[in-house]
Parts: sequence; structure tokens; C-alpha cells
Amino acid sequence: MDEKDREQARRFANLSYEGFRELAARADLSPYEQIGFPDSVRAGRDQAILDDICAKLPEMAQASKPRTILDIGPGSSPLALRIIDHCQACGHRLWLVDSPEMLAPLPEGPLVRKVAGPFPDCANDLAALVGKADVIICYSVLHYVFADQPLFSFIDAAMRLLRSGGGAMLLGDLPNASMRRRFLASEAGQAFHRSYMGRDEAPNLGVHLEPSGELDDAILFSIIARARAVGSDAWLLPQPPELPMSNRREDILIRKP
Ligand SMILES: C[S@@+](CC[C@H](N)C(=O)[O-])C[C@H]1O[C@@H](n2cnc3c(N)ncnc32)[C@H](O)[C@@H]1O
Repeated sequence: MDEKDREQARRFANLSYEGFRELAARADLSPYEQIGFPDSVRAGRDQAILDDICAKLPEMAQASKPRTILDIGPGSSPLALRIIDHCQACGHRLWLVDSPEMLAPLPEGPLVRKVAGPFPDCANDLAALVGKADVIICYSVLHYVFADQPLFSFIDAAMRLLRSGGGAMLLGDLPNASMRRRFLASEAGQAFHRSYMGRDEAPNLGVHLEPSGELDDAILFSIIARARAVGSDAWLLPQPPELPMSNRREDILIRKP
């Protein structure tokens, strides 16, 4: 990471739905920067991310049976384009919920339906999906929701859309502050920190008494407990090492029995 990347990472750390609308409209930014990532983090990783999403959501991978898929917060980067291409090739019906600014550059198609967010405020426009979605993808979105709106209202509303008998939702790419601290306490983590900061300094691993507004073990475990309490199975899953932030991010898979 160079200084520009570090500056961007700091600037992108506290984005909200409204902040993303502004980024999406900025013609001076790259497609990755428009969704809040420095190029060095995401460029060239799109297929690896899609492969991991499909591995965790096998219903999405199969072309044999057309599925109904909802992507909450697809953004407008090459990952969204790959998801659209993949779903069209499989014959899946794909619903996309994001801001009008994010949705505008995404291609139209007979199987693609765009709904202006934010989710779950747009729930009325998704009434046809209640109990019908085979798959929900919500990738690299939940930490912004957590900072911005009631988390369980968002998750409960999404779970209402899943069909019983296997409907599955991936809450993917969740930064976990506890996992990051565990990593930074290791030798590999300290070397990573020096290289990331571009100087010889140790990470601050002191006691964190102030609520940071970040997702951590407690919040992620509470999401799993919540999903299970309202009748779904739920698991915390690791990311494969080829993904750009696998040392500090993980995924939650929720499946309705
Ligand atoms: C970091 S980007 C991730 C984009 C894409 N999922 C990816 O991983 O490449 C977060 C996206 O979530 C969208 N978003 C944030 N809050 C949302 C909400 N409540 N409803 C729908 N979209 C939301 C933003 O507009 C943005 O496009």
C-alpha cells in the first residue's frame, strides 16, 4: 500500500449509504474507488471473490435450475458485472438493490431487476420476493449498515425474503475488529502492519474501552444467535487466503431449514 491507498482507506472507512451515492457519481474515481476500495485491494480479485461466493452458495453456482437471487448492495464495480453475467448465463432471475447512482451504470437484461434502496426501506418494492428468494448476497455491506441503521431490522427484513427449505443468505466480507487484533498480535500481523504503514512501528493492541462502531466477535456472534433464534441455521465462515482481506474479514452464512 502506498500513501494514496492509505489515505483512501482512511477516507473510505466511515462511509454511509449517502456517502456511497456521492462516490458513485464521481467520474474521477476508478470503479473500485466508487465502491469504497483502493484499487490495490480489489483489482484482479473479482473472480476469486465470485468463486468463493458460489462455493458458499451452491444454489447460485448451478445452472441446472434457475434461481431467484437478490443482491443487496451490489455496487457497480467489476464484481457486480461478474455476478450479473454469471446469473444471466445460469438463467437466474437477479434482483439488485442499491442507490440509483450505483445501479445506473449496471447493464439491463431480461432477467435483471433493479430496485432503488436503501434496504429495507424499499421492502414494498420487494413484496414479490417475500418467502421466495433462493439466495441473498450481501457482500461487503453490513459494516456500513451497522454504523448507519438498526442492524437486526436489516437482517430480519432480509431473512423474511428467503424461501423455507434451503433459502440461503451470505453476509459476506465482514471486517472483524477482534480478528484483526488477533492477527496484529502475531508475528505475521506485525510484519503486515509495518508494510501497510510503510514505517517501522508496532500496532496499537492496547485495551479498547470505547465502543468503536466496528463489527467484532460479539456483534458477529450476536447475528448468528439472532438468525438461529428466529428459526434459521447460521454459521461463521473463513475466507480463502487468496481474498484480499482474509486475515481480518469473515462471512456469515444463514440458511432457512
Ligand atoms: C463496499 S460497497 C460493496 C459493493 C459490492 N457488494 C462489492 O463487494 O463489490 C457497499 C455497497 O453497499 C451499498 N449499500 C450500503 N447500504 C445499503 C443499504 N442499506 N441498502 C442497499 N445498499 C446499500 C452501497 O451503496 C455500496 O454500493
